[in-house]
Amino acid sequence: MAPLSADTLHVAGELQVPGDKSISHRALIASVLADGRSRVRGILPSADVHSTAGVLRALGADIPSLAATLEIEGLGLHGLRTPSTDLDCGNSGTSARLLAGVVAGSGLTARFVGDASLSRRPMRRVKTPLEQMGAAVELPDHGGLPMTVRGAPLHEIDWRSEMSSAQVKSCILLAALTAGVEATVREPSPSRDHTERMLAAMGAEVWTNDEAVLLFATSRLAPLDLEVPGDPSSAAFFAALAALAGSGDLLLRHVGVNDTRTGFFAALREMGATVELEEATRESGEWVANVRVAAGASLRGISIGADAIPTLIDELPLLATVAAYAEGETRVTGASELRVKESDRIAAVVSNLRALGADAEELPDGFVVRGTNPLLRGRVTTHGDHRLAMAFGVIGALPGNAVAVDDPDCVAVSYPQFWSDLERVIS
Ligand code: S3P
Repeated sequence: MAPLSADTLHVAGELQVPGDKSISHRALIASVLADGRSRVRGILPSADVHSTAGVLRALGADIPSLAATLEIEGLGLHGLRTPSTDLDCGNSGTSARLLAGVVAGSGLTARFVGDASLSRRPMRRVKTPLEQMGAAVELPDHGGLPMTVRGAPLHEIDWRSEMSSAQVKSCILLAALTAGVEATVREPSPSRDHTERMLAAMGAEVWTNDEAVLLFATSRLAPLDLEVPGDPSSAAFFAALAALAGSGDLLLRHVGVNDTRTGFFAALREMGATVELEEATRESGEWVANVRVAAGASLRGISIGADAIPTLIDELPLLATVAAYAEGETRVTGASELRVKESDRIAAVVSNLRALGADAEELPDGFVVRGTNPLLRGRVTTHGDHRLAMAFGVIGALPGNAVAVDDPDCVAVSYPQFWSDLERVIS
């Protein structure tokens, strides 16, 4: 067998990754709830965001097709109507959970459905607070979809969440917003805060600290004027590729660097890579920067625990694959939420790494990967999970590896042009 030849990979040039998925969902929802015409540039036209647009249309919103510049006429906080069809959220947990809050607060009744993966995902985490606010939510015994939400006049809530989840937090905030009541949400450690930043930029009164967010009763939202930053979770794949390459560097332009989202860049730095933020600016309440990642570092294993997990929750499968090339052990704990994502990402990433020849082990709430600089060869089972497809796509781009991904098209959920962008930076 030939020695590892990943160090022969050269990366060069610049890349603008597509718009942030979390912010794109929120931009559609908030624009529909605003008074007046919002303008959103650079929305992510991926399958998940199409799901949110489709649900909002079924609720009576007039959303044009997801063009680079999108103008949306808001209906105000009380303009949505009861849908005549089921609300199909496809693969998108963000659509189901955030829009459940909107339906509840708007006093509407609707049934949410989704694909097989989404139908298995836990919805009691939104049912319980919504019912405490006065709505009724019906779920099947397994706690997933279909979910019927029956809105009512809601009352204010002070909710302490067991897990750090921006979807749960945003569900509650959007329910309170549309119902015109106050909400406080407390979390073990802060989850991404795009909802509260966007609502504040639109005139809502929001107070935050490290433990809680408080949204005051709001009677109207001003229209949104937003350029959606590049998605740090998409940029992460190319940051990883550059960190694993032998020479060159990559400049990732106009990436969102909100510090509730940059845990993967910090992890790469701690592993020994050079990751620099250049020209940071603040746009519509969000920090944006160019991210430059230099190749040629030798990486070492790290430990990540519960407190940091929300800042890189979606990047953990990628971290596991990078760890196969880091000297020593990488240990992730406090991440049991990974088991209820688009797939059980702990089981899936570990079994795929092992199938390819890497040294990886499951923990109940995380994983251990021992970096051995292996040549990885074989077939990856993605379970239709976009982030697994892309994490292993990066590894497959390293010279000497031969990785076949069973369902490459599932990247359409968050990053439709991933494979062509990957081709571009390595050729
Ligand atoms: C998201 C929140 C996170 C994340 C998901 C997007 C959001 O989920 O994993 O990809 O847009 O609010 P949880 O809230 O379940 O942690």
